[in-house]
Amino acid sequence: MRMPLIAGNWKMNGSLALVDTFGRAFADASLPEKVEVALMVPFPYLGAATQALKDGGVAVGAQTLNDHLSGAFTGEVSGAMLTDLSVRYVLVGHSERRSLFGEDDAAVVARVKAALVSGLAPLLCLGETLEEHDAERTEAVVLGQLGAVLDALEPAERGCLVIAYEPVWAIGTGRTASPAQAQAVHAAIRDCLRRYDNALAEGMRLLYGGSMKAGNAAELLAQPDIDGGLVGGASLQVDDFLAICQSAG
Ligand code: PGA
Repeated sequence: MRMPLIAGNWKMNGSLALVDTFGRAFADASLPEKVEVALMVPFPYLGAATQALKDGGVAVGAQTLNDHLSGAFTGEVSGAMLTDLSVRYVLVGHSERRSLFGEDDAAVVARVKAALVSGLAPLLCLGETLEEHDAERTEAVVLGQLGAVLDALEPAERGCLVIAYEPVWAIGTGRTASPAQAQAVHAAIRDCLRRYDNALAEGMRLLYGGSMKAGNAAELLAQPDIDGGLVGGASLQVDDFLAICQSAG
């Protein structure tokens, strides 16, 4: 059985006070036992978040990392620095990194490898733009992004990934993929994984992201190939985020 994962992505939002609020709320909350929760916070809050969220059993993740292990890369953060802070996950290939920071498939592969070398679990994001969606190229785009990474990894490394399907047109727009639409893409991703290895496909967690909120999470999470959510906007409101975590149980 795949353990559902609900991962919050604060993006460039939040504060130390919000870290504290989440720490208290999760320490007091009784969440379903079989749900894993993670929170991807901005770099400056990682240390505080790992401390504040420890009692609530929430894993902490970063939102990106540099593909080099160390060196003269002013302003950048390495995977080893993240594991030093007890960070467990790192987003790679989020559509905002791809579109705003020019990260192509090669850059995504390099970051996935750097994450694995450092002992982090990469949460690999895939998704098509509205234009690609309207041109019915969703599967081609998503499976192309996925194949670029899988082909570059050793079989044992592939099993360390978590995958998130996030249609770009649904991110921060309030326009969610319907449960059936999302399920169809998730099933296509799992079929693609089966071509590499059956056990890999059965064990891989596939999260849905794109305007997931308390009101639509249960329906999305009920789909057979949706194993959790990557939650942006709704992860900034502790009650909304807790409600989504509850609905994954
Ligand atoms: P959203 O963001 O939930 O605000 O649509 C999701 C994401 O970008 O990970």
